[in-house]
Amino acid sequence: MASFPEEIMLGSLLSGRDFLTLADFSKEEIHYLLDLAQELKRKQLLDNSPQPLKGKTLGMLFEKASTRTRISFEAGMYQLGGNAIFLRTEDLQLARGEAISDTARVLSSYLDGIMIRANSHEDVKVFAKQASIPVINGLTDMYHPCQVLADLLTIKEIKGTFIDQKLVFIGDGNNMAHSLMLGAAQMGMSNTIVTPKGYEPNEVIVKESVSIAHQNQGNVEVTNCPRTAVQDADILYTDVWTSMGQEAEQVERAAAFSAYQVDSALVLQAKKDAIFMHCLPAHRGEEVTASVIDGLQSVVFQQAENRLHAQKALLTAIIGK
Ligand code: CP
Ligand code: NVA
Repeated sequence: MASFPEEIMLGSLLSGRDFLTLADFSKEEIHYLLDLAQELKRKQLLDNSPQPLKGKTLGMLFEKASTRTRISFEAGMYQLGGNAIFLRTEDLQLARGEAISDTARVLSSYLDGIMIRANSHEDVKVFAKQASIPVINGLTDMYHPCQVLADLLTIKEIKGTFIDQKLVFIGDGNNMAHSLMLGAAQMGMSNTIVTPKGYEPNEVIVKESVSIAHQNQGNVEVTNCPRTAVQDADILYTDVWTSMGQEAEQVERAAAFSAYQVDSALVLQAKKDAIFMHCLPAHRGEEVTASVIDGLQSVVFQQAENRLHAQKALLTAIIGK
């Protein structure tokens, strides 16, 4: 599929690699994946999908619920000519105390790659260290890189460029905020994370993002003031106030975040052609109003569809030869 020597080199450099965060790949490698995703999307529309993963099997290990991640990875593997096996942690010996490292070594001898959705990012790191096959982070408490790969594809399709694009994330300084900071920094975008006091993103990830952004002429800011931050925004992004695993904090969080809802008045402060993004699942009336998420500026279903295309590019590059 790759036609120029530089693309062939980037493609082969990705073979066998893990994808745990957006900092695992260079900006050139991310651009390569986005180009490949667009090519695969075009080919699928023409009913001409290549099948570079014939005979390959992806394991998909889930410790938490999923609609998009599970189905898009599974469908993507089939479309690429391979197979996917859905595994729930509670059905494996992991739930009865088998070591993650032993599980990683055993599964490496059956599978060609594994996608993991886990509570703890540290567990995924342990798994990746022991596994001899590529490991993909399908969401942890700290990151959601596959979602952001699809989001970057969506921004590229709609805006045509990342240069001078201002992405403002309003909400919890959570896994989505972390991955968006890293992804925007890699692409040299201007990125502001707006949270209530006490819910700011992880400081280590902020520092890492600032350093990556500076290398790429981008910038990262963290603030508590939504109205100022959204001025001149090209992209407004939000996510749930209570992530999976935080259900006990729901009432407290609803109170803390009530002034951080993305509503029509807030969207009016952004640029006229600003788009609204959300990784989904969404809670209308909480982090976003129905008028915004179901309005003309919303691109949330394009984002959701792009999970499939972005992940097909990722799978082709890291599992394919
Ligand atoms: N956005 C996302 O990861 O959705 P799921 O939780 O449904 O996989
Ligand atoms: N922050 C959310 C994202 C869901 C895709 C969560 O972790 O539940």
